[in-house]
Amino acid sequence: MDPAAALRLALDPSGILEAQGLTPDTWQRDLLASTSNQILLNCSRQSGKSAVVAAKALHAAIFKPGSLTLLLSPTQRQSGELFRKVLDGYRALGRPIETVGETQLKMELTNGSRIICLPGREETIRSFSNVTLLIIDEAARVPEDLYKSVRPMLAVSKGQLIELSTPFGQRGWFFQAWTNPIGWECVKATWPPPSLLGGARVRNQIAAPKDHRPPPRLPRWMAG
Ligand SMILES: Nc1ncnc2c1ncn2[C@@H]1O[C@H](COP(=O)(O)OP(=O)(O)OP(=O)(O)O)[C@@H](O)[C@H]1O
Ligand SMILES: [Mg+2]
Repeated sequence: MDPAAALRLALDPSGILEAQGLTPDTWQRDLLASTSNQILLNCSRQSGKSAVVAAKALHAAIFKPGSLTLLLSPTQRQSGELFRKVLDGYRALGRPIETVGETQLKMELTNGSRIICLPGREETIRSFSNVTLLIIDEAARVPEDLYKSVRPMLAVSKGQLIELSTPFGQRGWFFQAWTNPIGWECVKATWPPPSLLGGARVRNQIAAPKDHRPPPRLPRWMAG
């Protein structure tokens, strides 16, 4: 990547999605630019939430040398799917920095940055410190004990935490955080009806209550 392109990408992470032929939605651009310590994404199915956090992970790896990004999902298979989206972006950019190690579940770049998928079971998770970015995908389905085992990994580093999910009932730690989001930046992207029911991808919805108030009411597709 030539220096001008690298500078553009450093300043605007959206270029990672654009390199994959996607035109980022406004909420995706905002998320990529956000430096909030804690972000909650509450989005419909197929809204593009995994694609955008994968781009965020890749951007951190490229532009924060020595950074550590962890990907957690309810299962390792799902974390692996998210990681594949990271690799899609990496290839679309033309592998801007070489890897020193790459498997289906982790990559390490020559600038010392790492992106690692965590297993979806609390008993087998090893602890990491100095975490730059922790991404929890399908968060509403991540059991509380698993969540509690990864949260402390950010304590020392004060890294960024992004939890994203499609709602899964009105219970659990993700629901609690969404309904009482003190200290969280909240992003909601919905469209009726969800694509699985014949809708199209969202193009125009964003609610980001930066004052951290709870959303005025639960999204429609949360009911029932
Ligand atoms: N800005 C965009 N423009 C067009 N297509 C996009 C955009 N962002 C993501 N997509 C595409 O939409 C599809 C869904 O994206 P993605 O898997 O990231 O969504 P998701 O919300 O994580 O879905 P799921 O709920 O199934 O986990 C993918 O094919 C992805 O390439
Ligand atoms: Mg997803």
